[in-house]
Amino acid sequence: MRVLVTGGTGYIGSHTVVELLTAGHEVTIVDNLANSSPIVVDRISAITGSSFDFHSIDVRDEAGLDDVVATAAYDAVLHFAGLKSVAESVERPLEYFDNNVTGTITLCRVLARRGVRTIVFSSSATVYGDPPSLPLTEATPPGAPTNPYGRTKLVIEDILTDLQRADRRWSVILLRYFNPVGAHESGLVGEDPKGTPNNLMPYLAQVAVGKLDRLTIHGDDYATPDGTGVRDYIHVVDLAAGHVAALEKLVGVPGAHVYNLGTGSGTSVRELVAAFETAAGRTIPTVVGPRRPGDVAANWCDASKAAAELGWVATRTTADMCRDMWRWQTQNPDGYET
Ligand code: NAD
Ligand code: UFG
Repeated sequence: MRVLVTGGTGYIGSHTVVELLTAGHEVTIVDNLANSSPIVVDRISAITGSSFDFHSIDVRDEAGLDDVVATAAYDAVLHFAGLKSVAESVERPLEYFDNNVTGTITLCRVLARRGVRTIVFSSSATVYGDPPSLPLTEATPPGAPTNPYGRTKLVIEDILTDLQRADRRWSVILLRYFNPVGAHESGLVGEDPKGTPNNLMPYLAQVAVGKLDRLTIHGDDYATPDGTGVRDYIHVVDLAAGHVAALEKLVGVPGAHVYNLGTGSGTSVRELVAAFETAAGRTIPTVVGPRRPGDVAANWCDASKAAAELGWVATRTTADMCRDMWRWQTQNPDGYET
């Protein structure tokens, strides 16, 4: 298959490109490097021994994107490109809607013009809002996301579903990620947050490596077994493999297909801290703070639809996630600029 990957130098995109190349697919990356490093291109080549095209283009640049899409007969697009910080989206909603929503509309216009009608979209568990019940299945109605970032995901899901209703030839694949963590086992690619991390796993790793003093646990009075927030953490390489499985099954298959990609089980903040301490072989100082606004108490998915229909299951354990994150962090203490 020939696959166009938007946002392919980012965290999840880079791991997915590795899995695509390893599976023998041809890849072209489009990324404006707004939140990634060009070094990633060399790292992917080093892991896979394969070459691929990279274009430093914004997906809102319709003419530039059209030039890329016109040059080859793409079978599908994996659309990762987007801004993803919840806090930033609250401060800069217009930027988030423009980048994520306008970017997707521009991309779809180019794809339609060039006859590419399979798109895999990076959606999020955030579209479920505060879970009415657990586990979350694909039949759980989307709720009310608590921030502009989450609302861009829901709007884009609606736009792509409407596009498929209007032209039934489209294969629209909406993948709702739970909490992607970890890194490639080579330690060559991983998550490289700019500034202080917002998410638990990269924060933990930076405390463990000594860049940050301690982890603040955002609330220990939730109605969960140990009072801390529970999430469905999924190893980023399992998530990447889920994209390859979805593509291989659904490319050119008309419809709007929705899948949860998670492990199907929840881990609390305290449990993840303990697992990371074991992986890193050191104690991680913590302090309990107030709840973080907008956080849900617990969130995990029913992953059985992807297993039954895509033949995909997440196989990596929490210990694997922490071990691989720790390898990435110690080999690249300052990320790609190390
Ligand atoms: P990331 O920031 O590492 O990767 C996104 C990439 O898209 C970056 O390389 C960035 O430079 C690029 N990009 C952003 N706007 C662009 C534009 N207008 N044109 C071209 N390139 C652009 O993020 P990630 O964690 O790899 O996330 C990938 C996708 O998955 C995003 O859409 C994100 O919202 C979604 N997602 C992420 C998570 C998560 O926890 N990481 C969870 C659910 C969904
Ligand atoms: N947490 C802490 N301390 C921190 C960071 C996080 O205690 O310094 C806790 C949170 O309160 C939560 C858990 O760790 O209970 C996980 O938090 P993350 O920020 O790692 O992940 P979230 O589930 O809050 O956020 C993720 C994605 C968002 C997405 C959201 C909803 O990162 O992009 O899921 O699906 F919007």
